[in-house]
Amino acid sequence: MDFDRKELIRTAIEQQKKAYAPYSGFYVGAAVMADSGKVYTGVNAENASYPAGICAERAAIFHAVSCGERRFEAIAIVGGMGGVNTACCQPCGICRQVMREFCDPEKMRVLMAKSPEEYREMTLDELLPESFGPEDLPER
Ligand code: THU
Repeated sequence: MDFDRKELIRTAIEQQKKAYAPYSGFYVGAAVMADSGKVYTGVNAENASYPAGICAERAAIFHAVSCGERRFEAIAIVGGMGGVNTACCQPCGICRQVMREFCDPEKMRVLMAKSPEEYREMTLDELLPESFGPEDLPER
């Protein structure tokens, strides 16, 4: 698919500075591109009650959904201790499932980045094969 991968990654890196991660020290930034062409960002936001925290990917996706978006085409993710990205950051299992709700898994591009130049790209279907999604529930 044709879109500016480096720009999406740059947006995630810029956002990462705003991560709230006082407990793990692991700063994550995400930028998700909707089918409208708009990009929405998110960071991980931790909590003194640890399980109450949220990952950057889900923060970005729920932000976009709150703005009326329902379909996504790509997401860029960066993460590292203290905001230093030494490896390509993979999305956790819960975030993969949340992505699954709002995309075509075979088309959704997941950019796991270290920098705009160094990233791995996979489809959501590769990251979450044989998945369960909205079509698996009977019509209401
Ligand atoms: N984290 C994310 O934001 N995204 C991921 O996909 C992996 C983990 C966050 C959650 C927590 O705030 C910190 O990274 C350490 O797990």
